[in-house]
Amino acid sequence: MNLTRADFPEGFLFGAATSSYQIEGHAFGGAGRTHWDDFAATPGNVVRGEDGAIACDHYHRLDEDLDLLQGLNVDVYRFSTSWARVLPEGRGQVNSEGLDFYDRLVDGLLARGLKPALTLYHWELPSVLADLGGWRNRDIAQWFADYATVIMDRIGDRVWSTATINEPWCVGWLSHFVGAHAPGLRDIRATARAMHHILLAHGTAVQAIRATGATNLGAVCNLEWATPADDSPASKAAAERYDAIYNRFFMGGLFKGAYPDLVLEGLEQHLPSGWQNDFGTITSPVDWCGINYYTRSLLTEGEGAWPRYAQVEGPLPKNSIGWETYPDGLRDFLLRTRDEYTGDLPLYVTENGMAAHDKLGADGSIDDTDRQAYIGDHLEAVREAIREGVPVQGYFLWSLLDNYEWAFGYEKRFGAVHVDFDTLKRSPKNSYHALAAAFRR
Ligand code: FCB
Repeated sequence: MNLTRADFPEGFLFGAATSSYQIEGHAFGGAGRTHWDDFAATPGNVVRGEDGAIACDHYHRLDEDLDLLQGLNVDVYRFSTSWARVLPEGRGQVNSEGLDFYDRLVDGLLARGLKPALTLYHWELPSVLADLGGWRNRDIAQWFADYATVIMDRIGDRVWSTATINEPWCVGWLSHFVGAHAPGLRDIRATARAMHHILLAHGTAVQAIRATGATNLGAVCNLEWATPADDSPASKAAAERYDAIYNRFFMGGLFKGAYPDLVLEGLEQHLPSGWQNDFGTITSPVDWCGINYYTRSLLTEGEGAWPRYAQVEGPLPKNSIGWETYPDGLRDFLLRTRDEYTGDLPLYVTENGMAAHDKLGADGSIDDTDRQAYIGDHLEAVREAIREGVPVQGYFLWSLLDNYEWAFGYEKRFGAVHVDFDTLKRSPKNSYHALAAAFRR
């Protein structure tokens, strides 16, 4: 790692990120059933049928994990609260043990001099709400705002920042159109409704929690660069369609109060009636925008029904999932986001990291040179954007720990700290030590 804290502007924040279902262990502490438990229960949805029942057992190992965070020399920790842990039925009765856990988490961060960066939803929808239609049901906007208020009433006085819904594209398109994440639907009407209701829930919650006095509120989108696979007009059009669905729908809704024509061409007739009237709520002002960035895709024209694009394997080095490493996409997204959507609003890279090809050394060390190179190259891309005047104010590594990587189960590892999922022993990898040195104050 060549870069250090000194290569970034004064006050630039370094952080690490995790999420509740991926690390806590939802079998513990009175958490309710989530739609990920349901999804994982169907053979074939998740590698080896794994779920988040135990995960990293973070629920019982909180102090050990917070010590690891502190040892990484980061300034801020991006964690999420679990809707199902706090409201096992999605609404109504609060599980006080759940709130107590997040209270201890926030106090544990503050005691170690770390800023708590809260995300309110990182995908663990209570099954009871999924039964009522989940993100397809317009009422979810108010259910989510009520849940957000319960959280803020307990820890809002001590968190540094609050984000609403992690990665609308994953919650909407990946989960309702591709069917690769819970609830595993493949239905265009469900997709259109979910995508719109996610943004409506975001805006409704922003208004509700501002009313509790909360400040430093943000939206977090995952963006993926779309490159045409060849010079043909058909591939160019396919890449534009992909970009519109993946990136521009959510950024456009949040910051322009409009959806791109290239998406409306497929989704408009499936959107809930009166959708145009919701933009006043959807564009409720936020204080910052977070970008999660990992990779790009190569696109060409596909078969079948809209959106008729196909992904083609690219030539660049890949992570262990097969995602290409393409740091220029991060720089270009930071520039484009500033130029086309957010202007002077502070930006944060709220997730970036690599499922590396970790190798266990004879001395027990974990060699993840490729992860270190990946992080270094993406930090360099952030610097290039800063040099162009983009107001990027922080970078969060995904992730502190190896964890439940959704449909990839425990097989794909993004952590700076290795977790043995049999013994739950934590072992810092070489990247952990390199980052701790780079982030030293
Ligand atoms: C993001 C998710 C995060 C993790 C990383 C690898 O899409 O927010 O939970 O799965 O990808």
